[in-house]
Amino acid sequence: MPKELSNKEAHKILSEYSNNKQDLIKALHKLQENHPQNYLSETILDACCSHFKLTKAEIYGVVTYYTMFSIVPKGKFHISLCKSPVCTCMGGINLINHFAEKHKLKPGIISKDGLFSLEKVECLGRCGKAPSLMINKNVYTNLTPEKVDQILNSRKNEK
Ligand code: FES
Repeated sequence: MPKELSNKEAHKILSEYSNNKQDLIKALHKLQENHPQNYLSETILDACCSHFKLTKAEIYGVVTYYTMFSIVPKGKFHISLCKSPVCTCMGGINLINHFAEKHKLKPGIISKDGLFSLEKVECLGRCGKAPSLMINKNVYTNLTPEKVDQILNSRKNEK
């Protein structure tokens, strides 16, 4: 699997967007989704500067403001596990241990196969069906360790 999105590939994606600043957020989403490590690399940020005629500081201002953007590499499937009180009390604490013991996943590291990374986040707005997590843009609720295993297996098969 390639580890980078090249400058040429970044510009090809950017060519789908006007150079109006209103298109920046949409373009950043598409670029991040297309990066094999699911983040906005320096190459991408430079390509955005050139396409949108913005400074690096202006681009950084946008990507660091929104939590859905990352400037550090992530797994192809990035897991955002809710750490807020309701999820924690409803079994989220066991899920952290389960990720560490069974899947060797801890916050801030990427699995050896590059497929998964884990982050603890604030409430995902699904407290009524706690505990909850999100993988990229998909939310999963009423989690148990067994359900987590099934979800991860099915995402692995998407490779
Ligand atoms: S507390 Fe976890 S989704 Fe709200």
